Amino acid sequence: MQDTRPVERAARDPWWRDAVVYQVYLRSFADGNGDGVGDFPGLRSRLPYLAGLGVDAVWVTPHYVSGGADGGYDVVDFTSVDPDYGTVEDVRGLVEDAHGLGLRVLLDIVPNHTSDRHEWFRRALADPDSPEAARYHFRPASEEPPNNWQSMFGGPAWSRTPDGRWYLHLFTPQQPDLNWTNPAVVEDFDRTLRFWFDLGVDGFRVDVAYGLFKDPEYRDNPGIYSPTLFGHGPEQAMTTNQPGVHDVWRRWRAICDSYADPKMLVGEVSLADLAEVGRYARPDELHHAFQFRLLKSDWDAASFADTITEALAAFDAVGAPAPWVLGNHDKARQVTRYGSLRRARAAALLMLALPGSAYLYAGEELGLPEADVPDQARRDPIFFRSGGKRAGRDGCRIPMPWEGGEENAGFSGATPWLPQPAGWAGYAVDRQESDPGSTLALYRQAILLRDLYPALGSGRASVTRTGDVVRVDLVAQSGEPGAVTCWINMGATPAGVPAHRLLLSSSPDVTGPVAGVLRLKADTAVWVTW
Ligand code: BGC
Repeated sequence: MQDTRPVERAARDPWWRDAVVYQVYLRSFADGNGDGVGDFPGLRSRLPYLAGLGVDAVWVTPHYVSGGADGGYDVVDFTSVDPDYGTVEDVRGLVEDAHGLGLRVLLDIVPNHTSDRHEWFRRALADPDSPEAARYHFRPASEEPPNNWQSMFGGPAWSRTPDGRWYLHLFTPQQPDLNWTNPAVVEDFDRTLRFWFDLGVDGFRVDVAYGLFKDPEYRDNPGIYSPTLFGHGPEQAMTTNQPGVHDVWRRWRAICDSYADPKMLVGEVSLADLAEVGRYARPDELHHAFQFRLLKSDWDAASFADTITEALAAFDAVGAPAPWVLGNHDKARQVTRYGSLRRARAAALLMLALPGSAYLYAGEELGLPEADVPDQARRDPIFFRSGGKRAGRDGCRIPMPWEGGEENAGFSGATPWLPQPAGWAGYAVDRQESDPGSTLALYRQAILLRDLYPALGSGRASVTRTGDVVRVDLVAQSGEPGAVTCWINMGATPAGVPAHRLLLSSSPDVTGPVAGVLRLKADTAVWVTW
């Protein structure tokens, strides 16, 4: 009989290939100075929690001085820390503490655009002939916008300056796009990377990594972009995925590799074509390229199975690990998206079994649902730019519940910057810590087993589907024992699946196996060994 004893994961080199990365929405994670806004001291104080969860790295959403137009993604100064969040010394301290606990720290860098309050844009506005004006996309004054390009947040991607020129912004008008054909832009970002790397930061999540370059002739897109489209396809052919962008990632990779302990990059590559996404993760480019097809999939076995198969093939083709993500700060929380906590827990087990890295979004380990945010409390520009037609992303950015019995569920002594809905304390970390059946306990167990079984997270996977049941067989690459199968039943009725031993179940009501068969209830995933 095959030896099924767990094996301590061998060399984790390079660490990022199978890492579990935890995304912290800084403003909502933990408030250290009692002003209702999360900050670096708060995050530092909660690092032991993250170490206890078992993750390998923390990715912190933008912390820079910003214009406040898009949750920090409109950066005024790339080597600063917004005083709301602390100081550069706090970042240094965070990195030291994190390293002491065996955690890596990734920051978020925003190279596609700056804030309209960035000193470059101010000078560019004041003087059309300034060198700073050449760092953006300005077009001459005219009645109509220069072309049909649309902002991803709704409306045209062009706004006018007071002197009548047009400037490009793929997001809000407060986020003018940089012109990456200008060497001054390229060199300035080199300096930004080194500034944070020299401080000890381990890498970056790269915002809009499929953007940066635009069609040099500013030709119309062949269709009109709509945020409801599945991915970014031909209707964005002139505004995203231009060939020049790959040279930037090669340049950044060389900077990463110049450090004794090489730094890592994970880019947001929101393209529909997964083979195109894979090209961003070629060996001399980004370490990880996020694909969002799984994140955008409905609760549907065929869609999950096909996406996983296709993504694995796309990343295998370039020798890169697949980064998996089910939730982030831009998407409604999976409990609400899938329709139940039960499904979200099952999906988590599936994701944590897959080969590659897994990105968790703060609060998903607590099973937080999408929150209803009253209109007057909303902050997201998507809500305002769509005239209230799109709810926006505030509902997944609600401050974390830590201690159920404390004011504002332990997030802050002051009123949180976004209101926590009624019942939020019920999800608090301290309540879940004392409950072995909690979602937090499930995530902890899963991450622990991932560390013990090489087949999980770093195995080779084969995916098959029968009706609503998806089976993922995982075999350790190095031939070590401990093959694991993940079964997920996405249908409405129970299914019998072959199994030798149950390792972990997303739902406490799974028992067995009996006579080599396990009864898998609806919306449940299990890990079994043979
Ligand atoms: C980030 C968003 C942000 C946008 C513009 C995205 O992809 O994840 O939160 O609004 O880039 O910077």
